[in-house]
Amino acid sequence: EYVLINQSILPKEEAYININDRGYHFGDGIYEVIRIYEQKPFALDLHLSRLASSAEKLDLPLPYSIEELKVLLLSLVEKNTITNGTIYFQVTRGIAPRNHLYSRETESTLTAFTQVFASDKQLEDGIHVWLTPDIRWLRCDIKTINLLGNVLAKREAADNQCHEAIMHRDRILTEGSSSNLFLVKDHVLYTHPATNLILNGITRQIVIQLALNEGIDVIEEPFPFDVLEHADEAFITSTSMEITPINQVKGELTTTIPLGPVTKRLRDLFKNQL
Ligand code: PDD
Repeated sequence: EYVLINQSILPKEEAYININDRGYHFGDGIYEVIRIYEQKPFALDLHLSRLASSAEKLDLPLPYSIEELKVLLLSLVEKNTITNGTIYFQVTRGIAPRNHLYSRETESTLTAFTQVFASDKQLEDGIHVWLTPDIRWLRCDIKTINLLGNVLAKREAADNQCHEAIMHRDRILTEGSSSNLFLVKDHVLYTHPATNLILNGITRQIVIQLALNEGIDVIEEPFPFDVLEHADEAFITSTSMEITPINQVKGELTTTIPLGPVTKRLRDLFKNQL
């Protein structure tokens, strides 16, 4: 098994991270997770352009051009002969003595690894989700490696026998701890707009496009969590979970939601374009 550090592909055992990397000191970095289906990275360009946008928002220079990054990532996928799985990569603000003040001269560090991964068929019938306050910062649109609000929410969900945490800010539903949230009511799809309060998921963007092509109206508006009680259907989307139905909400509100035709249709359309 090989990993990538900057431009070198190394056996995992030989790869070391510098203790002064700002990723360790400050969580000062950004990342992407890309799905690999049949040896091909899915939506690679969309992920790379989101990485570039995260980098820009954080005044963090990417160490290589998008084209160079693509070549490096593809060579790692090939080297590890990953058929189905994910590639994780991150860029941190590089190695420097610990200091909150960053220099614009520090060279960013790129690291990447692959993971073998198969969809969990058991989740296809739906998952339980845990409703909890969104305690994250106000730039959730940036895919940073700072994920404390997310990991605490995920743990809380698991401690309550739920597969995912669904977060709300002052009762407005935002997104999952590692996914986006969609509701269906009267055949219309509802989701939080792509503001600073959520990550604009690549799967989210693809699902919205598939829905529109199918003549399903999509309304991107904030809504309070009480609407969960009136939803006809609900699902989450992410690179790893694809489109996964929600069948039970627990926590501040408890409700059961059936798996319905819109979710099924979108899931079929999503699978067909892979
Ligand atoms: N998580 N919202 C959050 C907070 C996320 O962390 C993710 C993805 C998404 C969905 O984005 P996408 O469709 O581009 O995967 C939404 C990844 C998979 C992770 O951290 O593992």
